[in-house]
This record gives sequence, C-alpha cells and structure tokens, in this order.
Amino acid sequence: MLRRVKRPHSRLSALLRAATRARRHAYAPYSGFQVGAAVLAGGRIFSACNVENSAYPLCVCAERNAVGSAVAAGHRRIDAVAIVAGEGRPAAPCGGCRQVFAEFCDPDAPVVYASTAGRSVITTAGALLPDSFGPADLLAAAPRPAGIVRDPSRSAARIRGARKRRK
Ligand code: THU
Repeated sequence: MLRRVKRPHSRLSALLRAATRARRHAYAPYSGFQVGAAVLAGGRIFSACNVENSAYPLCVCAERNAVGSAVAAGHRRIDAVAIVAGEGRPAAPCGGCRQVFAEFCDPDAPVVYASTAGRSVITTAGALLPDSFGPADLLAAAPRPAGIVRDPSRSAARIRGARKRRK
C-alpha cells in the first residue's frame, strides 16, 4: 500500500486528536511519562501509546507502536506523524523513533509534537534526523544485500531514497 496521501498537513489536527486519545491509554507506571502518537498511512490514522515494562529496556515508545500498527496493516509509507507528550513544553521524539520515521517517511513528511497544554512544534522527518543512516549505506557496503533486493515489502520511501542517492 504505497498510495501517497495528498496534503498530509491538512490531517495534522485529526492526528493530534488521535494521539491525545491514545495517550490516555499509556502504560507508564515506571516513568509516569505518558505519550500518545498517531501516524497517517494510506489515508488512515494509526495511533498508539507508550508501553513500559518492569524490565526497563523493554519499554516501547508510542511512536514506534503507532508505526508498527500501520506496517502490520500493510503500509510501507508514513505520510505524517503527530505526538502528544509533556505538560508545558512539547516533548520531541527520541532518537530511536526518529530513525524509525526515516525508514518509512519521506524527508518532507510533516511531524508535529505537542504538549498537553496545546503548545506544538511542526517539523519534518528529514529535519529531525538529517543525513540519516539507511538502505543506501547497506547498498554501498554490499551492492545487492538479499534483504533489500528480494523483500517486496521493503519500505518504499527508503528504497526510493537509496536509488536516488546512488545515481
Ligand atoms: N517515550 C516515548 O513514548 N516516545 C519518545 O519519543 C520518548 C520517550 C516514552 C518511553 C517511556 O515509556 C517514557 O516515554 C519515558 O522515557
């Protein structure tokens, strides 16, 4: 499902509402820090919250859970992202989530992060992680790695980007 959604910016308010709703379900008994995220893929909104674990390293960010839901529904392109976290100051997505956005978003895909008080920052996936590691780096090391060449479900955004950069 690689259909590009027209005008993803026009969906940011709906994404923020979905992220706010998902945040209410955050399972964050250890940090107490609740996060909601929503992504737009194939015209649909997929939302999720952070899910922590008593084995701390297993905590999963809201953004990654939302991207995972979209991917599990068959999507390979994320057109926009919204995150709601932090009470006064909007909390920016962590580095790991930025790398996950880079896998599925075009660099110009809008990302908005907002506080519960309604303050928000609008940026893009590319601005959050410039010069990111990606398939182009794997291709440079080994021209035809099996996972990239044979897997038809690979992320379209990343493979397209890799091809462009190789030219
Ligand atoms: N968290 C997210 O859900 N997204 C981020 O981008 C940063 C951090 C979560 C993970 C953990 O449950 C809590 O916030 C505190 O780090």
